[in-house]
Amino acid sequence: MEDLVGGGCLRIVSCAGPMLRVAYSASCARAFTRLPRLVDPMRSGEQLEAGAIDDCNAEGDGDHEPSVARRMLTYLVPYRRRIALAGLASLVTTAATIFPATITRWIVDDALVPATRRGDARGTLLLLVLALLGTRLVAWSSERATLWQGSWLGGQVTADLRFSLHRHMLRLRPSFFAKHDVGSLMSRVAKDAEAVQGFLVRGVPFLVINALTFVAVFGVMLATSWKLTLCVVAPVPVVWAWGRRSQRRAEPRFGRALRAQSALSARLRESLSGIRVTKAFAQERREMLCFEGENAGLVRASVHANRMRVQLLATALLVTNAGLLALFLIGGSDVIRSELSVGTLIAFYSYVYMFYGPLQWFGQVNSSLSQAVAGARRVFEVLDTAPEPYADVRARRVTRAQGRVSFEGVWFGYDSSRPVLRDLGLEVAAGETIGIVGRSGAGKTTLVHLLCRFYDVDAGGIELDGVDVRELRLEDLRRQIGVVFQEPFLFSGSIAHNIAYGRPDAGIDDVIAAAKVANAHEFILDKPDGYDSEVGERGARLSGGERQRVALARAVLGDPRVLILDEATSSVDARSEALIQHAIAGIAAHRTTFVIAHRLSTLAHTDRIVVLDHGRITRTTTYHELTTDTHAPITRAPRLPVDNTMGSSPVSGRVRVFRDARSLIAVALPDGSTFTDVRIVRARPLRDPEGRLSFVGSSREEIVAVDNLTQLDDASLRVVNEELHRRYLTSIVSRILSFRSKSGVSCLCVETGRGRRDLVIEDLAGSSRLLPARNGGGPRLVLEDADGNRFEIPDIDALDRRSSRLLQQAL
Ligand SMILES: Nc1ncnc2c1ncn2[C@@H]1O[C@H](COP(=O)(O)OP(=O)(O)OP(=O)(O)O)[C@@H](O)[C@H]1O
Ligand SMILES: [Mg+2]
Repeated sequence: MEDLVGGGCLRIVSCAGPMLRVAYSASCARAFTRLPRLVDPMRSGEQLEAGAIDDCNAEGDGDHEPSVARRMLTYLVPYRRRIALAGLASLVTTAATIFPATITRWIVDDALVPATRRGDARGTLLLLVLALLGTRLVAWSSERATLWQGSWLGGQVTADLRFSLHRHMLRLRPSFFAKHDVGSLMSRVAKDAEAVQGFLVRGVPFLVINALTFVAVFGVMLATSWKLTLCVVAPVPVVWAWGRRSQRRAEPRFGRALRAQSALSARLRESLSGIRVTKAFAQERREMLCFEGENAGLVRASVHANRMRVQLLATALLVTNAGLLALFLIGGSDVIRSELSVGTLIAFYSYVYMFYGPLQWFGQVNSSLSQAVAGARRVFEVLDTAPEPYADVRARRVTRAQGRVSFEGVWFGYDSSRPVLRDLGLEVAAGETIGIVGRSGAGKTTLVHLLCRFYDVDAGGIELDGVDVRELRLEDLRRQIGVVFQEPFLFSGSIAHNIAYGRPDAGIDDVIAAAKVANAHEFILDKPDGYDSEVGERGARLSGGERQRVALARAVLGDPRVLILDEATSSVDARSEALIQHAIAGIAAHRTTFVIAHRLSTLAHTDRIVVLDHGRITRTTTYHELTTDTHAPITRAPRLPVDNTMGSSPVSGRVRVFRDARSLIAVALPDGSTFTDVRIVRARPLRDPEGRLSFVGSSREEIVAVDNLTQLDDASLRVVNEELHRRYLTSIVSRILSFRSKSGVSCLCVETGRGRRDLVIEDLAGSSRLLPARNGGGPRLVLEDADGNRFEIPDIDALDRRSSRLLQQAL
């Protein structure tokens, strides 16, 4: 089969007769990919079973899409009580808004106009003004309550929406993320959900108030004068029809504006994450122009969308003013003829504003509704994408697998028209270490991704301990597997946090043991903050090899039954690789291990090696055979003598620490051996400063580790404390005296154990770390100034009020 643009071509070559070419368009691709699967058995003489060719209609969507606005409102259902409260407050607001117009009528007719006033006009005036004040106060408090409930509900509902969107995204198949831009998905979580919030906060509460006001004012006007009501109401159908028309036209425009917003986010994210490549190729200008293009596109789309709104508003204003003119013409004539009181005309004037106000607002909310509907549509698009089968109740549970893996007749392609794996079969015994080699693009990574069930096979099956992986509980299956990806990804946070990612409950001892297996312990101890060192976004503050080793430690920490190492040591130096291989050989003895590699040295400890070519296993061999084969599809690297440092874990016991003749730190171990020029480092200086101490030799290897300082005698303790004091130079802050901020640079004047200090910090948020309390009390805060000096506030809750206020202001 051959890929063509917009389709493909099937070539059938038979022994007798000419070659047959069948070209097909992309819509038929799915059906055509099945053909090789059917034809392959025929090549080995098998009969084609009747019914093997089933119909290949595309899975019909036929989905009935419920109204987006109605679906949005379902998010309000859990907050019924609050909504009822808000509704009640709206009712009171409506009554308190309408009533003043009637009081005004009474003031004019009963207290002011000489012809109609009765009794004690002054007393009536005072009473009515007091009533006016009362209604205003009621309106003020009920309006506040309505708005408060509205913004609370809006915030809460948007948080729910964002949460369900994020939860759903986490459960989507990897294929979804291969097709969608991460930047654009981020914009859906942030911007589109915000558009929905805009409607719920600024829309729904006013919708209720305005609808109630609209109906109530209409009732009052009708009861007062049907003739004048007719003048006022006449323009309404025009505005209404205009509004409906504009909403229909505005919705796709807002959709376009949100897509432009997404494109801009995607561009921004890409240009910032690829900044090094941009700089290396001096393409800043090109990136700037691209961004400018997307930015201009967003402006155009927004202006286009808002033009409708402006038109609608202006027209509504014009039409409603026509109603006002009619009111004065007809109502004024009635007053002149004494058929209508002046007070009633003035009251009507107020009613007109109360009546048209909501009408204009409906025009405005139309656009906010269109925007929200467009945003919600994009949010629901993601929510409606089928997730991975996490909640399959029929799935089998696995607590601890043995690790027997078999691939049987596996066919798979990312694109339905192009199989990557073809009829692949492989049996791997529990505990076996299998190497996978092959040319780039042969399908090695794909093979192990199928085992993790990131994708489902198109045909055939993959079994773990004799059970098809599709029948296993997805979460259980993945817990059995530890993977080091070809491109290791680290989360921002500390090294310890990254290693313990799969088992957040793991203690520091487990983390260190895993780091040792990955030959990462040494380099981690070499960092000033040890296991508490920040790795930066995607692990940007580590080297490629260090990232790989942290990823390896993360994979082995979970004690998986199946370990997958996809080029796991491709970026580490030869010595480190030899050490890691040695350690892995030890841990691989108890679990099934897949080692994918281009370098021969990586495969030294494998039991068997399979060679993959164009999605098929073409050869099964051993390391020994490959080393003697000059045509093997792998890179030869000199084999290193493996030393044994990895195996020797540090001795814990009574050790003696002293200074030698040159005043260097020396350590004497219980077995009598002595090491000099030793560094004493804390494994977790930030999170657990009193915890584990490592004694590191001059060649950076760990000589011994001490979990508890009580294991040391007094003389040793003195030397250790002295050395720690020298190495970890952190000033303890007792008070904050002042804080200033200018152009993003913060200046803090603080009182420390060493006197007053002025801290100049460029990025306060990035240079401060909030850490858990040491011994009860509140959290600790560690600050680093522009020169790299460390300052610690040991308990931020214990700060005096002024310091606390300044700290809040600063952060
Ligand atoms: N998400 C994807 N969408 C479409 N095609 C893909 C995707 N991932 C991989 N491919 C294609 O599938 C084929 C097999 O890719 P795979 O990553 O399995 O190769 P590999 O053997 O691991 O190669 P390498 O040694 O370079 O890592 C390649 O042709 C690749 O272009
Ligand atoms: Mg690969």
